[in-house]
Amino acid sequence: MINGPDEIFFERKGKIERAEGCSFTSEDDLIAAVNAIAGSIGRRINNEEPRLDARLKDGSRIHAVIPPCSLKGTTVAIRKFTQSKITMKDYIKLGAISPDAANFLEICMFLGKNILVSGGTGSGKTTLLSLLCTRIPKGYRLIVIEDAAELVVDYEHVVRFETRMADEQGRYEVSMRDLLKSALRLRPDRIIVGEVRGSEGMELIQAMNTGHKGSMGTIHANSPNDALVRLEALAMGSDAKISEKALQYSIAGAIDMIIQISRLSDGSRRILSIAEVRGLDKDYNYVVAPIFEMGNLVRGTEGKLTGELRASGEIPSFMHEIEDNKIPFPRAKFFAKKS
Ligand SMILES: Nc1ncnc2c1ncn2[C@@H]1O[C@H](COP(=O)(O)OP(=O)(O)OP(=O)(O)O)[C@@H](O)[C@H]1O
Ligand SMILES: [Mg+2]
Repeated sequence: MINGPDEIFFERKGKIERAEGCSFTSEDDLIAAVNAIAGSIGRRINNEEPRLDARLKDGSRIHAVIPPCSLKGTTVAIRKFTQSKITMKDYIKLGAISPDAANFLEICMFLGKNILVSGGTGSGKTTLLSLLCTRIPKGYRLIVIEDAAELVVDYEHVVRFETRMADEQGRYEVSMRDLLKSALRLRPDRIIVGEVRGSEGMELIQAMNTGHKGSMGTIHANSPNDALVRLEALAMGSDAKISEKALQYSIAGAIDMIIQISRLSDGSRRILSIAEVRGLDKDYNYVVAPIFEMGNLVRGTEGKLTGELRASGEIPSFMHEIEDNKIPFPRAKFFAKKS
């Protein structure tokens, strides 16, 4: 992260730190560097086009804004993607999830539940979605659609699509929505959308409601309820003619589970809730039941937070599927432990 020539920051293990002793000699030097990067991928940044949003050759994303829009001098953020594979064991070790909750998520994947991963910026949504992808049973055809190919999907039968930004004249854009429409015509079993941030939400809901069990996506929201309301707002932006109530029914029917993840103040990323969407009440509010929930977080020495993701006492509505499939996850696991 560069905020003008004298301020450089970087993020390490979830914490933002200043790069002490690092700077550019001048604003001109900084602009020249940004221009060189833009040039290397056939783009430009200048007075007429003071913002640059692009993907670098190594897959990382760059966004830059130059003065006068940026007051302190040229501002740049480069997001590097870690392509390292994370396993459920690592995730448990990191304290991001409890063993029982991890087991439950594996069951949801096995049963083909439609899942939304919800969280704020940098909360670990993409990492969690990659992790969930490792638990997809064999034998399906996956189609993965992203703005920038970030997800690590190690699967036998997978088709991957990436959107294309419009060129400088605003032409040739291929949107998430375009790709989702194509995906639906390419006989997918499970559709995975990196991040739902526009009207493609509508196609995803339709896909989930038309037999594409086990589809998933991430969304930017602060609670499971917010995630549904946000999905609704995004889908409303599409040109599909559907009443608000019909849309709410579709959403409540499409999404089975919402996993809420958060970046906590100690820099850790943890699952705060795994909730089931149970439909709508008579006032058209979504009925969302937490199955696993984070208990009280306690701050220990060195500012580290400790807390436990616990069963809430709610039995998932698909308990019979768990039992019919003889999955060794007894009802008792869902009973809240007394602390
Ligand atoms: N459980 C975790 N524990 C520690 N670090 C994690 C965890 N999950 C993700 N991270 C790290 O946090 C950073 C952000 O993760 P990720 O890209 O998955 O978040 P995101 O919510 O998808 O972000 P964005 O909002 O930018 O899309 C990455 O560096 C990732 O390696
Ligand atoms: Mg992400």
